[in-house]
Amino acid sequence: MSEGFITFRDVSREYRMGEVTIKAVDSASFTIDEGKFTLIVGPSGAGKTTILNMLGGMDKASSGSINVAGIDISSYNKK
Ligand SMILES: Nc1ncnc2c1ncn2[C@@H]1O[C@H](COP(=O)(O)OP(=O)(O)OP(=O)(O)O)[C@@H](O)[C@H]1O
Ligand SMILES: [Mg+2]
Repeated sequence: MSEGFITFRDVSREYRMGEVTIKAVDSASFTIDEGKFTLIVGPSGAGKTTILNMLGGMDKASSGSINVAGIDISSYNKK
């Protein structure tokens, strides 16, 4: 996969709620070019908000990497 301005590589996000694990995002990979007006579409529960929260740094991926402008933001700590 080529490197975009934003690159999601094999990104998953799981929420553990007691015995149950919910896979909100399951191995998502995509790139977005700089300056492109981009839409994320999908049915309710597909993981759109979870993806935007990870992209904005409000949530952290369980696995995979998120790269923005050459920086791997998935390696950032909570602070
Ligand atoms: N904090 C959370 N704890 C547990 N499960 C969650 C959490 N956030 C999201 N989920 C679950 O993850 C899945 C994806 O949710 P998400 O909100 O990302 O979907 P969405 O595509 O934004 O849906 P919508 O179109 O309804 O806004 C859903 O099954 C949802 O119930
Ligand atoms: Mg949503």
